[in-house]
Amino acid sequence: MASPTLICDTEPWKDLKNHVEEIKKSHLRNLMSDTERCKSMVAEFDGMLLDYSRQNATLETLNKLYQLAEAAHLKEKINRMYSGEHINSTENRSVLHVALRAARDAVINSDGKNVVPEVWKVLDKIQEFSEKVRSGSWVGATGKSLKDVIAVGIGGSFLGPLFVHTALQTDPEAIKSSRGRQLRFLANVDPVDVAKSIAGLNPETTLVVVVSKTFTTAETMLNARTLREWISAALGLIKISFIQNTQGFGKPSAVAKHMVAVSTNLTLVEKFGIDPNNAFAFWDWVGGRYSVCSAVGVLPLSLQYGFSVVEKFLKGASSIDQHFYSAPFDKNIPVLLGLLSIWNVSFLGYPARVSISAPDEQSCLTPRPWKNWLHTFNRHVSMESNGKGVSIDGVLLPFEAGEIDFGEPGTNGQHSFYQLIHQGRVIPCDFIGVVKSQQPVYLKGEVVSNHDELMSNFFAQPDALAYGKTPEQLQKENVPPHLIPHKTFSGNRPSLSLLLPTLSACNIGQVRGFLHLF
Ligand code: F6P
Repeated sequence: MASPTLICDTEPWKDLKNHVEEIKKSHLRNLMSDTERCKSMVAEFDGMLLDYSRQNATLETLNKLYQLAEAAHLKEKINRMYSGEHINSTENRSVLHVALRAARDAVINSDGKNVVPEVWKVLDKIQEFSEKVRSGSWVGATGKSLKDVIAVGIGGSFLGPLFVHTALQTDPEAIKSSRGRQLRFLANVDPVDVAKSIAGLNPETTLVVVVSKTFTTAETMLNARTLREWISAALGLIKISFIQNTQGFGKPSAVAKHMVAVSTNLTLVEKFGIDPNNAFAFWDWVGGRYSVCSAVGVLPLSLQYGFSVVEKFLKGASSIDQHFYSAPFDKNIPVLLGLLSIWNVSFLGYPARVSISAPDEQSCLTPRPWKNWLHTFNRHVSMESNGKGVSIDGVLLPFEAGEIDFGEPGTNGQHSFYQLIHQGRVIPCDFIGVVKSQQPVYLKGEVVSNHDELMSNFFAQPDALAYGKTPEQLQKENVPPHLIPHKTFSGNRPSLSLLLPTLSACNIGQVRGFLHLF
């Protein structure tokens, strides 16, 4: 029998649709009293723990979701992806981001050719180049070493590297290795963004990395031209002796020393005036939203943190690739996250999801320009290029797909949208916490309790959302009658908790690796 065109025509989908009414009659207060259920709704991998017992779901729901995965031929699709089949049918391409972080001796074929040696050739080139820049043996047009990097790119050529960059700022090794260096991003074409990206930087000590898969994206090319002008205007008239690459002759010499590129289109890179020797390739089988593990992310991040730190990030992502490929679905974290997301969005009808992170967020006392990694996580990991309205065969979906994701670090959310998630709309919450803070705050030689406080919140909030608070409980607490409606929380609001050992480069890679289905 030919497989149905749409997943919603399958029996498991219809079965889940009917099951929704049953789930709506239950309350998490009762579901949580079933110890066997709670024990089963936990998955672990390499020190990470996913607790999804506070989802509006029973073990029966999960079995039905696994049947849905079977009806979608998920396992076959995963195998087809890893074996390099052209599962990207609209562009007739393989989807092989797993090859970007595969071990040097791995064999992953696309169109009959093992792509892993090419991947490592570029990684080796990045390692060599970034070490030259970081050690000062690569100098700019005036002979000075380059300590600041502006990465110009947009969409997938920006959000992934930005996420990893902000997340790495909690990792002691990354903090140490990036001392005295700056990595900035320029995506938007607003002149204010251009001005911010170069504010306080000296063109003599700055390297611009133009990141564009196609090298045609309007915003990126405009910004790249602007920064080329910035470099040339300041350094273009350099004595001939500083031109070290003869190919740069006749072009503004400074560009050859101050601008490099990451692209699949090396012809356009050269046309732009960037020395093709200073171009770092990637391939058409790397989708934009998956490209952070290619030179798109690896080059700017290696320039900032050193290749060895970035290699740990790649190894983390690779460990999730193994897990995703081999773990049974009921223990497979990316699969579980994907199925629960479909359950919440397409069956229970919750259009949004909020991510709330516990530490490492207390770095306000560290002397670093601090930006929260979670703000970039939502834009990249879950929102980037998601939300298609048609099936893979181009058939209009008669159900809602895709999620509106937002988030806040730690207890910031409590002072922002917690009223909404406790009393207003039902918005499934993902709590992400780390067991060990890498940024302990010391005052008078003692570690202050920030981490413990944040973690108490991390454990308390999911229960508060699940159990709620009844008027009877409030009466017992002697709450004045007129305040009881204001303090009543219905509960039964779903959440899941993901606990990581730390927020190391490897763990960041693992979180990024979840993106397979998430
Ligand atoms: O608009 C989406 C997109 O095509 C992404 O897939 C891509 O990451 C981004 O634009 C930028 O494209 P490019 O890397 O070719 O400049």
